[in-house]
Amino acid sequence: MKELIAAAVAARENAHAPYSKFRVGAALAGTDGRIFTGCNVENATYGLSVCAERVAVLKAISEGARTFAAVAVCADTEILTPPCGACRQILWEFCGDVPVTMTNLAGKQETIQLSTLFPKAFDASFL
Ligand code: THU
Repeated sequence: MKELIAAAVAARENAHAPYSKFRVGAALAGTDGRIFTGCNVENATYGLSVCAERVAVLKAISEGARTFAAVAVCADTEILTPPCGACRQILWEFCGDVPVTMTNLAGKQETIQLSTLFPKAFDASFL
């Protein structure tokens, strides 16, 4: 877990957030031991900006990872930053009910299961 959090903190350094100035890093632990990171990547058309969590998921999937054990998210906020609604849906799709650890630069951290952050999720089981 320490390694996963450190990866999320480091990924945040790469954030491209010139518009919001709100820098976020995320890290996913693959069950094969690999760690996949992401940062938020904003765009001048604002709406095309992508969150750190989704960048990490898409990187992981494109690298062949399919099963995940945990997620870490880092932002520089006193009240720990949780994944946005869209990212919760994407995390649910690919990671299932994993523990999500939120952290800040002061080292504060809290871990909440994704099913608690995202109850009554819609997923393929309804199709
Ligand atoms: N953001 C993330 O990357 N992850 C989150 O969990 C919350 C929000 C980004 C999106 C945007 O680039 C900036 O933070 C402000 O919303």
